[in-house]
Amino acid sequence: MTIAELKKEFVKYYGGSEDDVRIFMSPGRVNLIGEHTDYCGGFVFPAAITMGTYIAARKTDDKIIKMRATDLPDYVEADATRINDYKHLSWGNYQLGVAAELEKRGYEIVGCELLFDDTIPHGGGLSSSAAIEVATAITFATFSNELKGIDEPLDMIEMALCGQGAENNYCGVNCGIMDQFASAMGKKDHVIFLDCRKLEDYKLVPLKMDGYKIVISNTNKKRSLADSKYNERRAETEEGLAELQQALPNATCLGDISLAEFEANKHLIKRDIVRQRVTHVIEEDDRVLKSIEALEKGDILEFGRLINASGDSLRDLYEVTGKELDTLVAEARKIDGTIGSRMTGAGFGGCTMSIVREDAVEKFIEEVGKAYEAIIGYPASFYVDDIGDGGHEVK
Ligand code: GLA
Repeated sequence: MTIAELKKEFVKYYGGSEDDVRIFMSPGRVNLIGEHTDYCGGFVFPAAITMGTYIAARKTDDKIIKMRATDLPDYVEADATRINDYKHLSWGNYQLGVAAELEKRGYEIVGCELLFDDTIPHGGGLSSSAAIEVATAITFATFSNELKGIDEPLDMIEMALCGQGAENNYCGVNCGIMDQFASAMGKKDHVIFLDCRKLEDYKLVPLKMDGYKIVISNTNKKRSLADSKYNERRAETEEGLAELQQALPNATCLGDISLAEFEANKHLIKRDIVRQRVTHVIEEDDRVLKSIEALEKGDILEFGRLINASGDSLRDLYEVTGKELDTLVAEARKIDGTIGSRMTGAGFGGCTMSIVREDAVEKFIEEVGKAYEAIIGYPASFYVDDIGDGGHEVK
């Protein structure tokens, strides 16, 4: 939907004129490497895509938050003075969770009418939820600042933290900070190198991949039990950390532990499965650093090898793939012109990302698509998206 169409649709639902309707947006993300490391205080390397959540918004002078989406029948009316009463909602809980987090930080939630429009596939592993959260945070925080006469740019890291807080404290998903950070802080044509222990020290790395494209392939698999499996993985890494801390008491997270320290102490981890999970995290952290080095040297083939190694580790050690993701990756790697392919995001369905030579992209989509459908029984979707900017008001 274009901005003009979205404003028209807004007026259809809420009445009034288009003149005082504002548009806020925040994008989804694709993570190039550094998967399932963020909640361990590790390194990640994501980029904002151009697909995301758009919100058409208008302030009102009461304390009622009214919300609809262009593609859902749901209509939510929430009282901003009882913001913690809506955790049960199946749609609207991310947004109200964000409001609850903003309130904790001193923002005042203003009554408003909101219409959400997502250009990103829901539940597809491209952080559609982070896009909703950060776009909502920007909307509510902007309205709060205007009410209080505060004329300063928003602290976008704080917006990201409110999005993560909504998931952790309101929606029951113990996610890390990567998705919301990428959605809030992304920059066109740049990848974010983030040490999740020190958010302020993030670096924007220009993505120079002359002659290559990032192709995102969506399994279109409906994710089931993904949240509980995600929380289980996180608990396993915490169990491993506690055991390693017997020998490494100064380590506050797995990100504080080097590959050499891990090798010397991994016998302390009792359960094989936990040792396997921690091995993934520690080695993945190392692969992120090597990837940045490779990209700085312009060694795209080495970057591709690291992407493949990450994917194999997520499949074999972290066990967050499944038949659909494995099929997409295996078929992608068969294409002459693919230099690396792996799942991206939480896994258990969702998307893969592949680095593909520009002149092979068409063939990639055709052949991987055909093979996937023959094996899985329904089609995959493909996107060759650009790297876009983080959340902002669209003026
Ligand atoms: C999901 C979470 C992120 C991150 C990834 C895996 O996208 O929201 O915080 O843990 O999975 O890397």
